[in-house]
Amino acid sequence: MKPRVLALTDLPEDLRERLEAEIELEVQPAGELSDAAVARRVEGFHGLIPLLIHRVGPATFEAADRLKIVANVAVGVDNVDLESAGQAGIAVTHTPGVLTDDTADLAFGLLLAAVRRLGEADRYVRQGRFTGWKPDLLLGRSLASLTLGVVGAGRIGRAVLERARAFGMRRLYASRSALAPEVERDLGARRRTLEELLTEADVVSLHVPLTDETRHLIDQRALERMKPGSYLINTARGPVVDEAALVEALRSEKLAGAGLDVFENEPRVHPDLLELDRVVLAPHIGSATVETRHAMAELAVESVLDLLVRGRWPEHLVVDPRNLSSHLAVSTGDARE
Ligand code: DGY
Repeated sequence: MKPRVLALTDLPEDLRERLEAEIELEVQPAGELSDAAVARRVEGFHGLIPLLIHRVGPATFEAADRLKIVANVAVGVDNVDLESAGQAGIAVTHTPGVLTDDTADLAFGLLLAAVRRLGEADRYVRQGRFTGWKPDLLLGRSLASLTLGVVGAGRIGRAVLERARAFGMRRLYASRSALAPEVERDLGARRRTLEELLTEADVVSLHVPLTDETRHLIDQRALERMKPGSYLINTARGPVVDEAALVEALRSEKLAGAGLDVFENEPRVHPDLLELDRVVLAPHIGSATVETRHAMAELAVESVLDLLVRGRWPEHLVVDPRNLSSHLAVSTGDARE
């Protein structure tokens, strides 16, 4: 009997064919699903391919009578209860590496858009308000005069630092462990504590996974520490920022602007953010390119084939049933790159 796999998302034709040659595939594309809703679907399947909008929690692992692997099509795994997966002895994989450059590009795009006021500029022209060149029209800041502080120096954080180097920005990073001296040298980035970074950086860009430790890492106190006139960029996970406190910091003009690709209660966006002109908003599109979305799906498919067909352990395990304590380190460290 072929293993049975449930994909909660459409898969590219070539990947679908690759799977169907080896396993019995059921594709049930779904929008947001609660843990209970995933639990209702999972019975009898050996593999599950969810998206970050699907909660894979205790109810799912309880209902999973045959499940061996959850191959999340995302690098972040905060939608999966890793503890329950570990207890159930079910492998969890994710998709690191393939979305690094696109997510870093998007972070840098938001940075440019916020600092050079591109959202406002676009609206200004569309509203027919452009009546002629003016010396003080929509003045932003010169990137080369600014310091970038990257919070979380995993793959994406480092890729953002590389981009900042090309734009002549001064570069700082805060992370649990220091980068190797040669990497620091190459990036031209200095390590700071989070507190120091917040007080020194003109632009703070977030690249940490969402965990209990990082939820509301940027809260009212952190925002108070930030430099007057600075900018916040978030392409990591919305709940890393206390959105109500961010709204206040923007309203009071403590912050000059923000670029946000992720939100605390996605897909709901804090209504006040929608009213603030100096905020650039995007609908969680960090990895949204044709190439990367295919590569992410391919990693998930390969993980499933590795475990269920080829009888080998997938490369990108976040929960490794062979070593039940290892997933804790991974989930709080490199899971968001
Ligand atoms: C991820 O992979 O975690 C992103 O947020 C979605 O691309």
